[in-house]
Amino acid sequence: MTRLPFIAGNWKMNLTVKQARDFAQAVAGKVPAATSVESAICAPATHLEALVELTKNSELNIGAENCHFEQSGAYTGEVSPYVLNDLGVKYVILGHSERREYFGETDELINKKTKAAFANGLIPIVCCGETLEQYETGKAVDVITGQLQKDLADLTKEQAEKLVVAYEPIWAIGTGKSATKEDAQKMCKAVRDVVAGLYGKEVADKVRVQYGGSVKPENVKEYLACPDVDGALVGGASLKVDSFLALLEGGKLA
Ligand code: PGA
Repeated sequence: MTRLPFIAGNWKMNLTVKQARDFAQAVAGKVPAATSVESAICAPATHLEALVELTKNSELNIGAENCHFEQSGAYTGEVSPYVLNDLGVKYVILGHSERREYFGETDELINKKTKAAFANGLIPIVCCGETLEQYETGKAVDVITGQLQKDLADLTKEQAEKLVVAYEPIWAIGTGKSATKEDAQKMCKAVRDVVAGLYGKEVADKVRVQYGGSVKPENVKEYLACPDVDGALVGGASLKVDSFLALLEGGKLA
């Protein structure tokens, strides 16, 4: 089956709001038609309102990088999924390895956030991935299977088929050392197998699985050519206009 490729930028804690505005104005009219590749920029919460506003007549979607699992309440410093949806945000990255590692996010928490994202009309991009040591000792498939079985538990089939899952080996993030296309394919297939185990093959065939970790305009095509890789989650190379547009060009349906 043909799944629409999906290239998403993950800006992390980079760029000022002014720089984000300049970026949005520069790319808004140049993003390829959503029939050939879907595109998104996931940005810090502070930047989202400006980005949504400046891209409302464009094919570019806007995503957040995190959200809380409640709609509102006494959660100082947190971002509400309800408010993100109200703002016009479409996607939210959840369980990125930086959130797991530096902010202590557990699979149980990521599962609560995943359910909250769907309940509030957002589409989660749920991240998984192994450390270098786990990779080198042959545990990568077991690690991501364990993560995703918990992260993706208890969704409805209607929710599950809308999921985006990003496989991002931790050792490839921001290091310039990307996975081979064979590893990316094997691991994205393993992601799909977990979804099939939880929700059946029909759902798994619809879920889009991205590879992430040092994706650049030069290597995006080779990942997208893999049968189970449906897109990319891109950090560093999504911060510059030319590079982001080149990624989208490389991600188009063949
Ligand atoms: P990178 O980051 O493309 O800079 O390696 C990817 C990510 O963390 O999503």
